[in-house]
Amino acid sequence: MLNLVLFGPPGAGKGTQSQNLIQKHALIHLSTGDLLRNEIAKGTELGLEAKKLMDAGLLVPDEVVISMISNKLDAEKDARGFIFDGFPRTVAQAAALDTLLESKGAGISGMIALEVKDEELQTRLLLRGKESGRPDDANPEVIGKRITEYNNKTAPVASYYKEQNKYKSINGIGTVEEIFTALNEVIEKY
Ligand code: AP5
Ligand code: MG
Repeated sequence: MLNLVLFGPPGAGKGTQSQNLIQKHALIHLSTGDLLRNEIAKGTELGLEAKKLMDAGLLVPDEVVISMISNKLDAEKDARGFIFDGFPRTVAQAAALDTLLESKGAGISGMIALEVKDEELQTRLLLRGKESGRPDDANPEVIGKRITEYNNKTAPVASYYKEQNKYKSINGIGTVEEIFTALNEVIEKY
């Protein structure tokens, strides 16, 4: 299996690159942000609870996202592999993902981090916020809060994979095609 963690701060381009990578490598895209927005759209209790935190730029509880990922892994038994986008976002989530994959005789092939400066993240997300309808893109304070959550809780996840020699980072600034090429250069070595 090819199981990739695509890592990076809010607005780094994880979702954009995942769309191209799943086509080229025949993988399944698992974005916890998309799964949560789907719950909100369906008006489920989980969605209503998650929405309050997401609109404030805060992470939802680990148990919620771990259980969503666990269900998706069970539902896709024949997958060639997965791209994890926006997950794991805490060290506890990373450890839980290892346990889930191990129970299926699999593991993470590697984490690839997209490096993008804070000013560029703000610019990209505010631009998208003009038309996306995502409440968490609508104002600079909430975007700032998401970046702070990333620095405090998510950035340490990189060390978790560095300790396993599974971490690579690439420049996330450039055209979508340039970044896609750089990602594939890393993936070809797995
Ligand atoms: P989530 O949906 O994961 O959002 P995020 O990571 O904060 O940010 P984005 O998805 O916006 O960034 P991205 O890296 O995917 O960039 P994209 O390709 O879209 O999470 C939302 C919320 O859900 C969280 O705040 C939290 O509350 C909750 N949540 C989700 N997962 C969780 C978890 N595991 N644990 C706890 N809580 C969780 O690109 C962004 C923009 O930039 C787009 O407009 C795009 O067109 C543009 N762009 C992309 N590439 C380029 C480029 N090369 N040059 C210029 N512009 C570009
Ligand atoms: Mg995304």
